[in-house]
Amino acid sequence: MHKSQVYSFVIILLLLSENISGQAYNNQLFIPPVLSGNNFNLSFNASTRQFFPGLTTDTYGINGDYLGPTLVFQKNDSVFINVTNNLFEVTSCHWHGLHVPALYDGGPHTTINPGTTWYAHFKVLNNAGTYWYHPHVHMNTLPQVNSGLAGMIIVKDSAEGLLNLPRTYGVDDFPVILQDKKYSISGQMLANALGDSMQVNGTIHPYLNCPAQIVRLRLLNGSNARVYNLGFSDQRNFYVIGNDGGLIDQPYSTNRLLLANGERVEILIDLSVDTPGTSFILKSFASEMASDIPGAITGMMGGNGPLEAVDFNIMQLNVITPTANPVLTVPVNLIPLSPWNPVNANRIRYKEVSGLGMVSGQGNFMMDNTTYDHMIINDTMRLGDIEIWNIANNSNMAHPMHIHDVQFYILHRNGSGPGMYEKGLKDVVLVKPGETVSLITKFEDFSDDSIPYMYHCHNLAHEDMGMMLQFIVTSGTSGVGAIQNTDHTYIYPNPTSDYWQLQLNSYPEKVNLYNMQGEKVTTPIIISSSKMVSVGDSQLQPGIYILKISYKERDISKTLVKY
Ligand code: C2O
Ligand code: CU
Ligand code: CU
Repeated sequence: MHKSQVYSFVIILLLLSENISGQAYNNQLFIPPVLSGNNFNLSFNASTRQFFPGLTTDTYGINGDYLGPTLVFQKNDSVFINVTNNLFEVTSCHWHGLHVPALYDGGPHTTINPGTTWYAHFKVLNNAGTYWYHPHVHMNTLPQVNSGLAGMIIVKDSAEGLLNLPRTYGVDDFPVILQDKKYSISGQMLANALGDSMQVNGTIHPYLNCPAQIVRLRLLNGSNARVYNLGFSDQRNFYVIGNDGGLIDQPYSTNRLLLANGERVEILIDLSVDTPGTSFILKSFASEMASDIPGAITGMMGGNGPLEAVDFNIMQLNVITPTANPVLTVPVNLIPLSPWNPVNANRIRYKEVSGLGMVSGQGNFMMDNTTYDHMIINDTMRLGDIEIWNIANNSNMAHPMHIHDVQFYILHRNGSGPGMYEKGLKDVVLVKPGETVSLITKFEDFSDDSIPYMYHCHNLAHEDMGMMLQFIVTSGTSGVGAIQNTDHTYIYPNPTSDYWQLQLNSYPEKVNLYNMQGEKVTTPIIISSSKMVSVGDSQLQPGIYILKISYKERDISKTLVKY
């Protein structure tokens, strides 16, 4: 090797792994563009990006080369979203934290085939807050999110709009997507649980210019497995104003914040007293985390890079001159909270997390002693019921547990709490070993007897390994509890723009498609194995169809929608 080649090789190695001490934060933080209105078009593409000089990294991106635009929704608006899959693999698009019909939730039952467009349509019912979207294909969520498929969602509403809060996107209100990455020597992002360098909004070694006034950060942990213990290098306090499901009742001041995978938190930083020119650093004080949290010790989940067990830098904040009409005070009151009263609960469910997967070779993590089976519905909820879930962690590692469809309130951890940091609506809760977290929620508005919602560990490595179960919300009066989907029929995507895929549990005698007039429709019906059936073609007129599946013992029918 030529001397200069050796030199640049060493430079690249230094760039690839985090240099904790003297790293210059000289890349301006990328602020994802905003899409707003009622109609959204997202396209998932394979692309490349130069994260490091001279190295081309393969990426996935949404309407761009990496990550996705920020979707801004107005509460009570109806939104129509087309998601086009230009990848060479199946994907899906889940609206994390949003309360939407199961059909449009974007889980593993509503996948998007390569070259097709999936369509989601829902009314925005969530409160103003920070949510996100990402693929949710079973066993392939980590690799796809890791490659760059993720974006932020900001919901606005009139109650939030009345508060004196910073809300000028990219000026005093900033999206902050935290992700750690592991790169190969050739600069490719490896689908590891834990990475060895940080990115914010896809920017390596970022700095953010913040005006000398109150600024708002929307922090999202979009990492595969790493949990952050956030704080600032000068130990300054900041104000937490919102959690996963929106604003809390009153800001509270702290200098540390634990942010687990999938969680969001909105904070205010008071820079009105800082002189322009001041700089400080957003850090993770990982050395202070309990040793059973991913990132706290070396060796957990294969993490042996420079971010394990130490305090590390994430982003530099540079104070600049204030804007014309700055927000200079932190509101005293935000949005009143109205948790459901436990005395009104219709049911208490017990959920157990177990396993010793942290020590390699000692078995996998499980929920209720089982792992994900696409064909098994693990729980059935009755529409309108208020439920208390007691989630006990009997494993040796902390797990961020996430429930689709609903937002919940935390009642207590091992009988005490909730702490200040977990007041308000949430959809992810970090459950530590030896802990039982009790939460309360209500299954309202949406029921669907065939398409389930997921609940799972949001550590993406665990989720892909099957630490994920599913539930159906039914409006029927049938029994609730751990019952099976009676006919074991799964259809996805539904609605579709071309063909449906059916997964059955036994070989059908015949399958026929009828229109709403009861006439048989001639369209290809391909039974590729005892379990897989493809129905449809691009010529089929948009509309509602009835599919009749005849088995020896009985017939079942399913409603299919073509758009
Ligand atoms: Cu971020 Cu099952 O979701
Ligand atoms: Cu979710
Ligand atoms: Cu887990």
